[in-house]
Amino acid sequence: MLDGFGREIDYLRVSVTDRCDLRCVYCMPERGVPSVSHEAILRCEELLRLVRVMARLGVRHVRVTGGEPMLRRDCLSFVRALGQVAGVESVSMTSNGLLLSDRLDALRELGLSSLNLSLDTLDPAAYARITRGGDVRRVLRTLDGALDLGIPVKLNAVPVRGFNEDAVVPLAELARERPLRVRFIELMPIGAAKALRSVPQAELTAALEAAFGPMIPDPVQYGHGPARYWKPEGFTGSIGLIGAVSREFCESCNRVRLTADGRLKLCLNHSSGPDLRARLRGGADDAALEAAIRAAVAEKPERHCFSGGAADPEGRSMNEIGG
Ligand code: GTP
Ligand code: 5AD
Ligand code: SF4
Repeated sequence: MLDGFGREIDYLRVSVTDRCDLRCVYCMPERGVPSVSHEAILRCEELLRLVRVMARLGVRHVRVTGGEPMLRRDCLSFVRALGQVAGVESVSMTSNGLLLSDRLDALRELGLSSLNLSLDTLDPAAYARITRGGDVRRVLRTLDGALDLGIPVKLNAVPVRGFNEDAVVPLAELARERPLRVRFIELMPIGAAKALRSVPQAELTAALEAAFGPMIPDPVQYGHGPARYWKPEGFTGSIGLIGAVSREFCESCNRVRLTADGRLKLCLNHSSGPDLRARLRGGADDAALEAAIRAAVAEKPERHCFSGGAADPEGRSMNEIGG
């Protein structure tokens, strides 16, 4: 499926819930988070129907996100069902890893193409502060367990001034001996993050080079996202940088998003996109859904609007958008 700028859209991020068991400072406020009602959230069969329609339109890669996807009891069966959708070549998940630490047995059979775990620091106290109460040992158990099962794992860390800038080198160190991608994501000024300060990627690169020597470009593109990878001398894994704000990867954007309440989001930073839940529940047939999706994708915005200029900047918080 091509958008209006000739970009091939073959990647869908499905947010299965806006709820989360953490409150990361850059994602959600501490209190007073409104949650989408149970009836408003798409049921598993509804999500699958939309994915089937989109796979017919050319979607090949599906990533399950949240909030925290594992808060949905049917998350793992949904992931399994996605793998059966004709045309879908890869199914991945982004999770905070807490609830997965007790479900490693189930992960084995999922055939995930990639498990991306949010992990901003290895220090238990700093982790509890940035996530407002999380237990880092559970994430580490998930990480070790998933690697033991041979699942390709990526870590996502968002460096935030005053919270975890000193965690960058210890996190990257994890990739020295293991086949792991440790990625540093530029803080996006969405929702709660607007009040925080990001750490420039040049500063990260300088700290990484001081610790590990020159960052040698790693030509492999692990997955289908916007990260660029580097491999210091002697590393088994690699380090990724995601310049979510400063690096304009919008021109090669390959993705759309589905929110848990059934909105097709055309860009992470724009509010535009049709309400597919209303069409589904209003009795639309597959052809009508296909037409609505095609028409929306044709209107996909050219780029994010973090530096202003758009009529419809996204007002929702990251847990609703799904990253
Ligand atoms: P793979 O590289 O295929 O594993 O997936 P991914 O990196 O796209 O997925 P993940 O959910 O781990 O996202 C990593 C970070 O990239 C998150 O902070 C996302 O918000 C950010 N991100 C993903 N897609 C986009 C995008 O289209 N634009 C911007 N600005 N950031 C994005
Ligand atoms: N800026 C950058 N990344 C963010 N994430 C959540 N909020 C932000 C933000 N404001 C990341 C999380 C998660 C991924 C899906 O999005 O760390 O790993
Ligand atoms: Fe939850 Fe992810 Fe947001 Fe953290 S970034 S609060 S883990 S949805």
